[in-house]
Amino acid sequence: MTFKEMILEGIPDVLPPKRERNENLSHAPKRKEILSAEEKKLAIKNALRYFDKKHHELLAQEFYAELEAYGRIYMYRLMPDYKITARSIDEFPHRSKQAAAIMLMLSNNLDEAIAQHPQELITYGGNGSVFSNWAQYRLTMKYLAEMTDEQTLVLYSGHPMGLYPSHPNAPRVVVTNGMMIPNYSKPDDWERFNALGVTQYGQMTAGSFMYIGPQGIVHGTTITVLNAVRMKKDRDASKLPIFVTSGLGGMSGAQPKAAVIAKTIGVVAEVNPKAACKRHEQGWVDEVHPDLDELITRIHRAVEENKPVSLAYLGNIVDLWERLVDEDLTVDLGSDQTSLHNPWAGGYYPVGYSFEESNDLMANDPAAFKAAVQATLQRHVAAINKLTAKGMYFFDYGNAFLLESSRAGADIMQADGTFKYPSYVQDIMGPMCFDYGFGPFRWVCASSDPKDLDTTDQIAAQVLEEMLEHAPEEIRQQISDNLLWIKQAKANKLVVGSQARILYADAEGRIKIAAAFNKAVKEGVLSGPVVLGRDHHDVSGTDSPYRETSNIYDGSKFTADMAIQNVIGDSFRGATWVSIHNGGGVGWGEVTNGGFGMVLDGSAECDTRLTSMLHWDVNNGISRRSWARNDGAMFAIKRAMEIEPRLKVTIPEIADDELLDSVVK
Ligand SMILES: NC(=O)c1ccc[n+]([C@@H]2O[C@H](COP(=O)([O-])OP(=O)(O)OC[C@H]3O[C@@H](n4cnc5c(N)ncnc54)[C@H](O)[C@@H]3O)[C@@H](O)[C@H]2O)c1
Repeated sequence: MTFKEMILEGIPDVLPPKRERNENLSHAPKRKEILSAEEKKLAIKNALRYFDKKHHELLAQEFYAELEAYGRIYMYRLMPDYKITARSIDEFPHRSKQAAAIMLMLSNNLDEAIAQHPQELITYGGNGSVFSNWAQYRLTMKYLAEMTDEQTLVLYSGHPMGLYPSHPNAPRVVVTNGMMIPNYSKPDDWERFNALGVTQYGQMTAGSFMYIGPQGIVHGTTITVLNAVRMKKDRDASKLPIFVTSGLGGMSGAQPKAAVIAKTIGVVAEVNPKAACKRHEQGWVDEVHPDLDELITRIHRAVEENKPVSLAYLGNIVDLWERLVDEDLTVDLGSDQTSLHNPWAGGYYPVGYSFEESNDLMANDPAAFKAAVQATLQRHVAAINKLTAKGMYFFDYGNAFLLESSRAGADIMQADGTFKYPSYVQDIMGPMCFDYGFGPFRWVCASSDPKDLDTTDQIAAQVLEEMLEHAPEEIRQQISDNLLWIKQAKANKLVVGSQARILYADAEGRIKIAAAFNKAVKEGVLSGPVVLGRDHHDVSGTDSPYRETSNIYDGSKFTADMAIQNVIGDSFRGATWVSIHNGGGVGWGEVTNGGFGMVLDGSAECDTRLTSMLHWDVNNGISRRSWARNDGAMFAIKRAMEIEPRLKVTIPEIADDELLDSVVK
């Protein structure tokens, strides 16, 4: 059978031979035992819904075995024989070009070279799923291959509910992931309902088909570190700043590379030797030091040389911080990127134990492991407090460090009940980027031809250069940073998988770049369509009180209207697909995030769609940030209204604090 025939076959009538999983690939850990015997029957019954009754006897046994072995039913037997990768758009069987582009994006998220646990259909973050099982994948691909521009595919947490009649300007796919009735959205609920096969955690870009590999994270981290250095105004600018943090994992591994691009001396602790070696082999971290004394000597030398370098400490971050407290070194910036969104299952390793000892303790004595993690967090914060007292600027990197430290009883709270330290969004991303509309805009060339990507880089650079000529002072720095990024993008060789590029841009930049791409597709300058999208971690896409919306101070940061409005608004303004997720990044239940994908096919309709949708997709969030009285956002939304007279946004009147103090005694 050809690749196209295999896609069109969907779930085969004759079952393929049983397949074992490939042990050379990374696999999801066995999930916690959560289902009762009756619930296990329900999980198997649910899984069998995808198959003709004649297969039930065989598959029921097989699915039960998977459930017992892994805690989930992945249906390994149905893993396809062909390579799943971002092929050129025309290689996918299709009747709708838009649907073919979605197949390309979805395939990229499941590519073995990209996905974290490809055979469990998990793209990143330990549990960020594209689908829950291989039947969902096969059925979805078949629907996408068969559908026309008069239909919309509906995906409920990975399950393809079906194709529904719609119209060419409607989204081709609507995705929801992990949406729960709020009173049933607690950690054991998610485990149970996920094991039953009725919901899944889509992370941010996994279940929305918008993951583009490590490039996205390197750019975001570079922007963060660059701006963190700018925050530290009191330092000697002739000396490179020292930046200390932890984690060389999936996202955190971008830190040393970004530290060097941002011209710092980056020191990153990592307990897992495999993670440290991988980043070293990839060239993302310059040196790995297992010995703390040697590392400290090396940091002193780096300070003397005053040259950007990244140094990994193979050990626990707390040992490093405690040592730095006593050293004659000025640590300018500090952060943490252990996986504290997942503290009890391997996201954060306790001090005083080797990596193997920690893993044993976690499996054999979870209560003792939890106590060790909490005691470590107390020491972790104590050391950071000493260094911030000496002038270090510390920020939470969206990994729930502050939250989990407070839950562990560490000295992290101020008298007024707020945290001692800001999150990176509160101080950096929020006021410097999101409030002005700058966020992780990205595109993918659907021809999968690297030449097309080069052309798009040049087009984007030209647009930014033109914008810089007239840009107001408030946003010149951001445009300049991104112009530099796009000019160096090819040389940085960050493409893994689809021919993708990330570029932080504001509403004006996104619209102008997209319109220029659409023109280039129309005129044949590009050999195929371009897919636009963004990380959900953006201006308007995500309501997350300790991350994306942590710099919202009007009390509304625990609401999720913005993310929901965003996805609804994108869907009727021309998005090719939309997605809304409960959970992502900081964990299930902690965030609501939404996103879109848009295929630029060179048509005039596309020009209308991109202008209308991208304008809303950014200005919705700026409006909300402006209504929360954020200065940058008030500036940006007033400017947006001057440019587009049809935009009328309610602007806040700012009451005097003295008045309030005199009224409320
Ligand atoms: N980079 C970003 O843009 C970004 C943005 C927002 C949030 N985050 C958050 O950052 C966290 C990390 O993400 P990831 O994908 O890299 O996770 P990951 O689990 O792949 O990596 C974390 C690494 O930290 C190491 N580690 C754990 N405890 C340690 C300790 N005590 N000392 C030294 N090393 C330790 C682990 O071995 C692991 O390699 C997540 O919570 C994520 O949500 C990242």
